[in-house]
Amino acid sequence: MTHPLTEINHRLGGIAYGGDYNPEQWPRDIWHEDVRLMREAGVNLVTLGVFSWSRIQPRPGAYDWSLHDEVLDLLHAHGIAVDLATPTAAPPPWFTRQHPEARPVTASGTRLAPGSRQVFCPSSPAYAEAADAVVTELAARYADHPAVALWHVHNEWGNHNALCYCDVSADAFRSWLHERYKNLETLNEAWGTDFWSQRYADWEEIEPPRDTTAFRNPGQELDYRRFSSDALLQRHRSEVAVLRRITPHLPITTNVMGTLEKKIDGHAFATECDLVSIDHYLPAADPDGHIDLALNADLARGMAGGRPWMLMEHSTSAVNWQPVNVAKQPGETRRNSLTHLARGADAVMFFQWRQSRAGAEKWHSAMLPHGGTDSRVWKETSALGAELASLQEVTGTRVRSDLALLFDWHNWWALELQARPSGEFRYLDAVRDWYEALWSQNITCDLVAPGTDLTSYRAVVAPALYLLSEQDAAHLSDYVERGGHLAVGCFSGVVDEYDRMWQGSHPGALREVLGLVVDEYLPLRPHERVRLEDGTHVRQWTERVEPRGCATYLRFADAADGGPARGGPAITRHAFGNGTAWYAAARLPAPSLQALLRALSDEAGIAPVIPASAGVEAVRRIGDRESYLFLINHTEESVRVPVVGEELGTAEIRNGEAVVPPGGAVVIRETAAPVSPHPKRTFT
Ligand code: GLA
Repeated sequence: MTHPLTEINHRLGGIAYGGDYNPEQWPRDIWHEDVRLMREAGVNLVTLGVFSWSRIQPRPGAYDWSLHDEVLDLLHAHGIAVDLATPTAAPPPWFTRQHPEARPVTASGTRLAPGSRQVFCPSSPAYAEAADAVVTELAARYADHPAVALWHVHNEWGNHNALCYCDVSADAFRSWLHERYKNLETLNEAWGTDFWSQRYADWEEIEPPRDTTAFRNPGQELDYRRFSSDALLQRHRSEVAVLRRITPHLPITTNVMGTLEKKIDGHAFATECDLVSIDHYLPAADPDGHIDLALNADLARGMAGGRPWMLMEHSTSAVNWQPVNVAKQPGETRRNSLTHLARGADAVMFFQWRQSRAGAEKWHSAMLPHGGTDSRVWKETSALGAELASLQEVTGTRVRSDLALLFDWHNWWALELQARPSGEFRYLDAVRDWYEALWSQNITCDLVAPGTDLTSYRAVVAPALYLLSEQDAAHLSDYVERGGHLAVGCFSGVVDEYDRMWQGSHPGALREVLGLVVDEYLPLRPHERVRLEDGTHVRQWTERVEPRGCATYLRFADAADGGPARGGPAITRHAFGNGTAWYAAARLPAPSLQALLRALSDEAGIAPVIPASAGVEAVRRIGDRESYLFLINHTEESVRVPVVGEELGTAEIRNGEAVVPPGGAVVIRETAAPVSPHPKRTFT
C-alpha cells in the first residue's frame, strides 16, 4: 500500500512545502497576495485554521464558515493543497467564560486564566463536548472540499496544559488508576505506600501529586505523568474517531514535539496517526543545535517505523520563546531543511507562512517576514521551494538504519523524579552523548521505543534506560541471546515500570545479559573529573562494577585521579548467547564512547555512510533503483567527498568528488551505490 504522504506528494507533484497559514490575522486583499507569493515560493501545502476556533464558532452553537470557505477555494484555485487543522488547541473566550471550571489548575492550586492558548483541562467533559462538536461541524463542512489533503489534529498536544491538578482531573486520575490496578492492594504495592504511612484504604483518598511538604511519592508522580499523557491521547482519539467517521478517505496526523516535549509520550501519539509529523526548533543555546535536529529527525523516522514522515514546523530564522532568540545565519535554513529531508522527511513545513503583525508571536520568524519580499529570509524561502522541487525524485525513498537507539518517555519521566543519586544526570544529556557519538561517525540510527521489534537491527544502544519493565528487559536479553549486539549506558535497568528497585544487585533487569553487578552508583561532584585509562576524563557519573562473566574493555585509572571506582571497569563486554552486550559504567567522554561504538559496530558489521570527517554529516536514502547521498557541511571550509554518482539540484561533482561548500549541503544520485552495504542481519 502506498504511504499516505507519498500519495500526497504524488498529488502535489513533489515534496510538500509550506507552513501554517493564518489568514484570519489579515484582511482579504492580503490573502490574494498570499496565494500569489506562495506560488512564487513553490509552496504547495499549507496548514490552515490551527487557531481559528473563535472565528469558526464566534458564539456557542453559531458557526461562521465564510473565512474558511473563501480561503479554501482561493487556495484550491491556485493549486495549493490544505492540511486542515482542527482548531481545538485554542478554545475561544466564550468557552472559557462559560466554563471556568474547565480551565487548568497548577500543582500549587492556581486556576489559570484565559488569554493564551490550550487553556483547558485535558479531562474536562465540557471541553470534550465543545471540541468534538466543532470538529464534527468542520469535518462535515469540508469532507469533500478538493483542497483538503489531510487532517492536522489539534496542535502540539499538551504543550502548555498537559499537567492539570484540578478536582476533575483528580477524579479522572482515580478512574485511570482503578482501570490500571483494579484493586487498592495492588496500587499500594506498586507505589510502596507503606513508606511514610501513605497506605490508601479508599480510592477517594488518592489525589494528584499536588505541591506538598517534601518529596512526593514517585510511583504516584510517575503514574500521574502517564495518566496526563493518556488523558490527552483520549482527546486525540476522540477527534480522530469523528474524522474517521465523516472523512474516512482523508489521512490524519498530529504534530508531536519530539524531545522538545517531556510531558507527552510521543510514541503513543505517533501510533495513532496515519502519518507521523514533528515540529523541530533549534535550541539557540546549543552551538551544535544541528545535532539536536538530526536526533529529532531520527526520532521522527523511528516513530514512523522507517516510513516517510512530515516536518510539520520549523523556523526560517529566530523563534520568540527562548531566552535569547538567535537569528539563523544565511544558508542555515536550507541546511536544516535538507538534513530533515536526508533523514526521511518528505515534507518541509514552517511555522508560519506570513509573520504576524500583532499577537504573542509577532517576533517569530516566518516564510514571508515583516520586510516582505525584499528580505534575505524571503529570498532563501523561495530558493528553497525551487530546490525542493528539483529534488522531487527523492520522495518515497527510505533511510535504512542497522542500529536502533532506545528512546522512552516513561523512562525520561522516571529518571528525573525527585530524590535520585544526582540531580545533574539528565536523560536527554545521556541520549545526546550516545547519539552524538554515532552522528559524528556517520552511523545512522533510528530512535525507537524499547518494546519495538528489534530483529532487523544489527545493534541496539540503550542510553540511561533506568526504568525497564520485565517484559522489555526480557526482550533485550532475548535480542542478545539470538545474536544481537547491545550497548547499555550507565544507570540502566535499575527500576521496574512502577519505579520500584529491581531486587538483588544492580542493574537488576540487566545483570545477566551484561555479566556484571554494580556494587554502587558513584555520582561525581560538580566540576569533579575522573581519569580513564585511555587518558580521557569522565564527569558527573561513575559506578563500581564487579564483573560476573564480562570482560573489561576500559578501566578507570588506577591512581588517585581514577575517582571512587579507581582501577575498576568503565567499559565491559559480555558474550551472551549468540550475541554481545556492552556496558558503560560512567557518563563517558566522547572519544571513549566513540571507541565503544566503533567496536560494537565493527562486531555487528555496521558501516558508516561515509568515513567520519569532522563536521560533515552524511545520510543515505535508498529507493528501488537509486540511492541518494546527502552531504551536509557544518564547517566553514569547503569539503570534498569521493562519490560515485551524479549531481542533483545544486550539487557539484569534480573529478569524482562532490564539492560541499562551507555551510552547504548537496545531494548526489548514486549510480554505483552500495544500496545494501551489508546483507540484513539474520537471527539464529
Ligand atoms: C509551536 C506551535 C506554533 C508556534 C511555534 C513557535 O511549534 O505549534 O503554533 O507557536 O511553536 O515556535
